[in-house]
Amino acid sequence: MRRHHLASAVVLILMLGASSPAHAAKPDDNPATQAQGKVIFDRTCLWCHGVTGTGDGPAGRFLGRYAAPRPRNFTTGSFKFRSTPSGDLPTDQDLFRTVTKGIPGYMPGFASLTETERWQVITYVKSFSPAFLVETPVSLPLTGTATPLGPESLDRGRALYERFECHTCHGVEGWGDGPVAQAGDLRDVSGLQIQATDLTRPSSFKNGATLQDLIRTLLTGLDGTPMPSYASRLTGTDHDGWDLAHYIRSLSAESAP
Ligand code: HEC
Ligand code: HEC
Repeated sequence: MRRHHLASAVVLILMLGASSPAHAAKPDDNPATQAQGKVIFDRTCLWCHGVTGTGDGPAGRFLGRYAAPRPRNFTTGSFKFRSTPSGDLPTDQDLFRTVTKGIPGYMPGFASLTETERWQVITYVKSFSPAFLVETPVSLPLTGTATPLGPESLDRGRALYERFECHTCHGVEGWGDGPVAQAGDLRDVSGLQIQATDLTRPSSFKNGATLQDLIRTLLTGLDGTPMPSYASRLTGTDHDGWDLAHYIRSLSAESAP
């Protein structure tokens, strides 16, 4: 039993940063790759993200002009879906995961592009922000040992949900209706109102709903939104992140084993 959990913890550590075995097709980050990426971007992405990557493409206005999220402005260097600490850039693998899977409700997945094409367009997206030239993003290690799903783990997870005051935004039952959310006070970095996620609907989670995905969300936070990083609080004991992730999944019938 114990050995089994240790083994899965090792596998999962590898997964927090590198979740896609797509290295083989990755072209070099050079001007030729960037030019090929621009062709794909202009055909596929600019309708939402805009010609200059500032998120002002014509289709973006159908997403609700006065509500968040708007298509990402790539020139600011701020990204939500990372394996890296809050405030850091995403890794290439993080961008690859987002482009491949898409963002439920907001952006289609682009698994229909070949892996090489996805890497090319990512090279072009990175060229909008000079920060990528000087910073080398590094994934956070996944903390602790996986805890088995069971009543003890769920009890600890529920206690953490209360202690970390997740309910103030997400609500006691996880419906996204906590007092701060109800007051309409939640805004993203552009000042637009944003909803606290309904945690009973994991298929809507933008950053994924597996245990590893949830721990990544909790450790890194979603930059530019009120969803904070819990990296400093979840490193305390070795099973907190897993317990909290189990508890989040228990809030929905969708993820019942
Ligand atoms: C239908 C509109 C739409 C299209 C088309 C689209 N996107 Fe997006 N994209 C969005 C929206 C909206 C967001 C922001 C979602 C959010 O903040 O929750 C986003 C966010 C992103 C992000 C930021 C992820 C993060 O971690 O913050 C990346 C990278 C991205 N898109 C890349 C692309 C690429 C590359 C293409 C083309 C292959 C593309 N998008 C096409 C709507 C679109
Ligand atoms: C200050 C308000 C606030 C607090 C406190 C907060 N969240 Fe969030 N959380 C948000 C908002 C807003 C979003 C949606 C961000 C978005 O859509 O881009 C979010 C998103 C999420 C998501 C979904 C991410 C996804 O993939 O779409 C999860 C899971 C989550 N929060 C769990 C938690 C847990 C667990 C806690 C406590 C440890 C917590 N949150 C504390 C505001 C908060």
